[in-house]
Amino acid sequence: MSDEQHTGAGREDAIQDTLDEHRECMQIVAEIEACLDRQPDDSDRWIGRLLEHLPELARTMREHFEDEEGGSLFTELPQRRPRIAPRLEALKDEHPRMLVEIERIIEIAAGLREAEIYELRELNARIQLFVARLRRHEAAENELIYEVYWDDIGTGD
Ligand SMILES: [Fe+2]
Repeated sequence: MSDEQHTGAGREDAIQDTLDEHRECMQIVAEIEACLDRQPDDSDRWIGRLLEHLPELARTMREHFEDEEGGSLFTELPQRRPRIAPRLEALKDEHPRMLVEIERIIEIAAGLREAEIYELRELNARIQLFVARLRRHEAAENELIYEVYWDDIGTGD
């Protein structure tokens, strides 16, 4: 195998890892949404179930962002397609902000004991907003990946 082919294969593996990690994050998000959908009959149990999944999401996101920032998506793509660099830069800037928000959500959830219904509603709304933001973020990254890599395959670049 030539160096060029080798690099190409490695690059596609790395991009596949990014897509797989996005799917992994979304699986945890689905578990969190399932918790949110359940009626908060007992507030401590409702929060307890959320706290089984939120820290896992925070950990997975942190590892994923680190891998991603050092990987093809954020290092190689902007070199190949300079016109997408500003979009990638904006996505990268969002990483630390989203980590701060998920940690804050965990802190709030962990601090609630025998919570009032309005507090549960607020927490629910904040998590829903966060999940929508994360989903949009990862979808924007996927879109860039498809745009660049699939375009290249299509044109035989
Ligand atoms: Fe990502």
